[in-house]
Amino acid sequence: MSAVLEVRNLSVSFRQDGKITQAVKGVSFSVGRGETVALVGESGSGKSVSALSTVSLLGDSDIVEGSVTYDGVEMVGADEKHLMQVRGNDISFIFQEPMTSLNRCTPSRNSWRNRWRCIRGWWGLRRGRGSLS
Ligand SMILES: Nc1ncnc2c1ncn2[C@@H]1O[C@H](COP(=O)(O)OP(=O)(O)OP(=O)(O)O)[C@@H](O)[C@H]1O
Ligand SMILES: [Mg+2]
Repeated sequence: MSAVLEVRNLSVSFRQDGKITQAVKGVSFSVGRGETVALVGESGSGKSVSALSTVSLLGDSDIVEGSVTYDGVEMVGADEKHLMQVRGNDISFIFQEPMTSLNRCTPSRNSWRNRWRCIRGWWGLRRGRGSLS
């Protein structure tokens, strides 16, 4: 089965209060076309962070290392135009806690770019084009 999503040696850290905290360390997995893959782990083990980093939705304080390819195109460091094409259209999310997960719409982050990201996310969800959570 050819992999549509390939995650290789993914590491994610956050800058917070002058410190760097590692949330994901060296994760690798792949998802084939038509395949369902479950990431299983205890709370705080980095499932959501891994999923969100596939389309660079973590914010400005994250440091993402490793490789994520979607349909053969590298997503880590991809330009915003390509990320916007994939978000909501190809990779969407069903959030477990909508009230907190939709923090990109809160006033402190209420730029037009983030509003658009939010709308695109929900649009993808409504069209039921697949999900990662
Ligand atoms: N924006 C952020 N800034 C700093 N740390 C973060 C941020 N987002 C997540 N973390 C931390 O990264 C770690 C992984 O969190 P994550 O939400 O990916 O866990 P999870 O496996 O999805 O947990 P759950 O099963 O509860 O959903 C946690 O320690 C969390 O506090
Ligand atoms: Mg989670």
